[in-house]
This record gives sequence, structure tokens and C-alpha cells, in this order.
Amino acid sequence: MTHDITVLGLESSCDDTAAAVLRGRAILSSVVADQTALHAAYGGVVPEIAARAHAEKLDICVEQALAEAHMTLAEVDAIAVTAGPGLIGGVLSGVMMAKGLSAATGKPLIGVNHLAGHALTPRLSHGLSFPYLILLVSGGHCQFLRVDGPTKFIRLGSTIDDAPGEAFDKTARLLGLAQPGGPSVEKHALKGDEKRFAFPRPLLERPGCDLSFSGLKTALLRQRDQLVTDQGGLHQQDVNDLCAGFQAAIRDVLVEKSRRALALSSGITGFSVAGGVAANTSLRGALETLSTTRNIPFVAPPLALCTDNAAMIAFAGAEKYAVDGADDLTLTARPRWPLDKTAPAALGSGRKGAKA
Ligand code: KG4
Ligand code: ZN
Repeated sequence: MTHDITVLGLESSCDDTAAAVLRGRAILSSVVADQTALHAAYGGVVPEIAARAHAEKLDICVEQALAEAHMTLAEVDAIAVTAGPGLIGGVLSGVMMAKGLSAATGKPLIGVNHLAGHALTPRLSHGLSFPYLILLVSGGHCQFLRVDGPTKFIRLGSTIDDAPGEAFDKTARLLGLAQPGGPSVEKHALKGDEKRFAFPRPLLERPGCDLSFSGLKTALLRQRDQLVTDQGGLHQQDVNDLCAGFQAAIRDVLVEKSRRALALSSGITGFSVAGGVAANTSLRGALETLSTTRNIPFVAPPLALCTDNAAMIAFAGAEKYAVDGADDLTLTARPRWPLDKTAPAALGSGRKGAKA
């Protein structure tokens, strides 16, 4: 079910400041100001720099989103904001901004879980009905969720260490390739032989849908150092073959764990994927093949809705509002906020901050 209220959404939980205006499933505007350049020199997101940049950019993004939607704040029905999980300084900036807008206008305030934003995206992009399975796979997240309703999520498995995007980025760094690492590694992998180097397939021996990726970068580091010892450096073909082997290992693990998650998910209407790593052609193709061979529709939202954005927050806000109503001004920013309250915590704090 979608709702034709007009929602202003705000997102500031990691390194993108975003604002969007949504009416039902129609995206009237979606503005994303990314902070890549601000963090480039540090090899990761610096929370203090991120928080300050969010505080500086939020009002500009809101003004731009309203202008592009040809609306004034008075014409908006509600204000939705990411209230966690994420880097606390950034989440706080967004929550304070949304509270201010709500207090000043009397519009309802809706605190949204960032992961719910990702998990509900196939409903925004394709109108997918509940229940469905989604794999969130980005620089900060990796989990399988069965989505039963706007606020009903069952986590079937998640990474116990790094997120795959984080692993792609580290691999690129180890091989001297440009950031973000995913696209660089994918480009080199296209020219490589994925069978030349042996990479492990972590956690496949363990039953269930949990994942692990930190061992892959250690494997890559060893292969790289061995080549340097043996031949004094890396040839272009070595880099290509290492990228291909690494990417194949990530793909194979995600496909096998997806096969298990699908086997646990009876009655679903589709299998979807969200997050920056979903842009990987080899992975996307393999997941689509898996899904269609099981006669389950594969739903891949457009990339602009897979990566962090505020349209997904506005949409998740509208869905939550219809079920639970609004929050009040006691809404707080939460660094951790698991979608499935019954699932045990599985992750520590990674490059992009606390994850759920
Ligand atoms: O969802 P996203 O934009 O941001 C968050 O992590 O929240 O995901 C970014 C991640 C980065 O780690 C990037 O290297 C990875 O997605 N990525 C890719 C590709 N494009 C982006 N990984 C593999 N293959 C790609 N083509
Ligand atoms: Zn995200």
C-alpha cells in the first residue's frame, strides 16, 4: 500500500547529505550532496568532518529539494528523517533540523530507520508487495531481510565483520586503484582470470546465512606480497587477475548465501537487492540468474535509489506513518537501531560507523 501524502525526507547518517520530496511513489525531487572530496585524504569517512558538513548542507539541500519540487514547506504534509543507525553526529544534525522544521510548521515528524529506507525501496521503485526478500549490500551494510510489513523485518543473516563494499574499497587501496574501490576493481576484473589465484569462500562451511569478508582482503594482501617477493612488483595482468579472483569470491559467497536465504523464505513475491555493491554487473547477473531459476521475480531498483538518498527515507516515513503515526519532539538519534529486534547484534563499528 502506498500513501499519497507529500513527505519531505532528510538523510544524513553517513557521508551523503540528502533531501527529497515525495508524493505517494512519485519522486518530486531528490537532492544528494556527497562528501567524497572532504574525506578523500583520510582513506575513510571522518565522523567529525561528516557531521559538520551535514550541518552546513542540510538546509541548502532542503531548499533545493523544495524548489525542484515547486513546493513550499507549507505544502508538505509531513517531515521524515533518518534517526539511525549511523554516525551519531550526522544523524543528530538531521534529527535536529527535522525537529526544527516540525516545531516551526506543526507538521508531523517521522523518525525513520535508515535500513528500513533501503529495505522498502523496491516498493518505491516497483510497487513490490509484502512479503519479499532483500539483500542490502553496500559499504556499510550486508544483511538478508525478509520484509513482511513497513515495520516488520526478519533478519536471516548478516556480515559478522566487514561489509562487501568496504572489502572492495580496501582491495582497491592495496592494489593502488582509485576510490571508491568497487567500480575500479570491477573494471580490472573484466580483463582478469578469476581462476588464477585461489581465494577462500568464507563461512560457506557454516550453515545459515551469515557472511564474512575480512579474510578476503588478507588473502589478497598475501597474494600481492608473494608476487612482489617473487617478481619484484605487480604487472597489469596480475592486478587484473587479483581483482577478478577477489570479485568472484564475493559474488560466489553472496550467491550461495542468497540461495540459502531464498530457501528459508516461502511465499515471497520477489527477491531484491539494494546498496552500492548491487551496481556490480557480475554480482547482479548472478543473483538475477539464481532468482529466476527459482521462479522468483528479481527486482533491482535503479542505482540512484540503491545508494543513500532521501527519497527512500521519505517513502519509508510515509509507510511507517500510516501504521504507527508520528513521533514527537522527544525523537532521538540512535547510533544503533537493528530492524529485527529479535536478532542478535552481529557487527562492530566499521569504516562508515556503527552498523546494525
Ligand atoms: O550504498 P553506498 O553508495 O554507500 C554506503 O555504503 O552506504 O555503497 C558504496 C559502496 C562502496 O564501498 C563502493 O566501492 C561500492 O559500494 N560499489 C561497488 C560498485 N559500485 C559501488 N562495489 C562493487 N562493484 C561496483 N560496481
Ligand atoms: Zn545506506
